[in-house]
Amino acid sequence: MLLTELKQKLDSFPQVKLLWGATPIVRAKNLSKETGVELYIKRDDLTGLALGGNKTRKLEFIMGEALEKGCDTVITAGAVHSNHALQTAAAAKKLGLDAVLVLRGKEENKGNLLMDRIINAEVRIYDVETSRELKDYMEEIAEELAERGKKPLIIPVGGSNPTGVLGYLRAAAEIVGQSNSMGLEFDYVVTPTSSGGTQTGILLGLKLLEPKIKALGIGVGDPREELLDDVGRLIKETAEILNVDEGIVSRDELEACTIDGYGFGGYGTVVREVIDLIKYIAGQEGFYLDPVYTGKGFYGLMDMIRKQVIPPGSKVLFVHTGGLGGIFQYEDIIAGML
Ligand SMILES: Cc1ncc(COP(=O)(O)O)c(C=O)c1O
Repeated sequence: MLLTELKQKLDSFPQVKLLWGATPIVRAKNLSKETGVELYIKRDDLTGLALGGNKTRKLEFIMGEALEKGCDTVITAGAVHSNHALQTAAAAKKLGLDAVLVLRGKEENKGNLLMDRIINAEVRIYDVETSRELKDYMEEIAEELAERGKKPLIIPVGGSNPTGVLGYLRAAAEIVGQSNSMGLEFDYVVTPTSSGGTQTGILLGLKLLEPKIKALGIGVGDPREELLDDVGRLIKETAEILNVDEGIVSRDELEACTIDGYGFGGYGTVVREVIDLIKYIAGQEGFYLDPVYTGKGFYGLMDMIRKQVIPPGSKVLFVHTGGLGGIFQYEDIIAGML
C-alpha cells in the first residue's frame, strides 16, 4: 500500500488531535558505537500529553469515537501504575469529558496514581490480581452511570481495540515517512508489548507499507499465549475496518516476531537487571526508560544484539513508548537498587 493511501484511510476515521506533532527519531550515538548496530530511538515518550507515551496515539482515535458517539464519560482500567489510565484521564479532561479509572494494586499517592488524583480523575481501586478481571467492574460502573443519565464509553485495558490500533498504524506511517526523508532503511523496528495494540499497529502498518522491515514486539511478562491471541485478534479486526486482507500476517509470522524471555517473572515485576540497564542507558544517552515496559523491552533488544539474533551492522529503531511515571511509582524499590 502507498504511504499516501494509508494516511488517507486513517484520516477518514473520527479522531481528535492530542499529539504535538511527529515525535523525533534520534540516533543513539554512544550505544551504536558500543553495540555495533545502528541504533535509533523513536521518542514516543514525547507525545506531549501528561507524561507522554504510546497511549496518546491510540487515544486520538478512541476519543474521536467517544465524541462522535456523544459520550460524556470514559471508563478505563489497569494497574495503579497504569500509564494508559493517566493518559486517558488527561485526554478526557482536555476534551471536557469525565474519566473513571478502574484500577488494581496498592493504593499509594505517588507516581501515576498521584498524577491521576492531581488531574481530578475519579479513581476506584479493586483487589484483583490481573487487569483483565476489571472488565466486569467497568461494566457495572457504566450501568451505574447510565442510570444517572450519563453516556459512558468503556475503553479496554491499554486502549487496545481496533480503534486504538489505528494510532499505531499512523505511527508506522510516520516512521516510514521519517526514515525516507532521513535516508534511512531500517531492518528492525522494536517495541515493548503488553496489551498488544502498539505491536499490532506497527506490525500491520509496516507489513502494508514496507514488508521487508521486521517488526518485533518484546513481551514484558504477560502470558505468551494470551498475548499472541490478543495480537492475532487485533490484527484481524483492524484489517477488517481498514478493508485489507485479514490474513496479511500469518500466525507463524506473528509467533516469530513476538519475543519473550524478558518478562523477569511476570508483568509488573521490578528487577535489578532492568534497573541497572535504565541507569546505564540514562548515563549513555540521557533519556529514561521505565521499569515495567521500556526497560524490559530494551533489555530484550540489547540481549538480542549481544547474541547476534539481530546481526551486527543492522539498522534498528526502538520505539520508546513512555512510562516515566513508573519510575516514581516504584521509587522506593528503585532507590534500594541504586
Ligand atoms: C509505557 C508503555 N509502553 C508499552 C506499553 C505496551 O503497549 P501495548 O499495551 O499497546 O502493548 C504500555 C502499555 O500500557 C505502556 O504504558
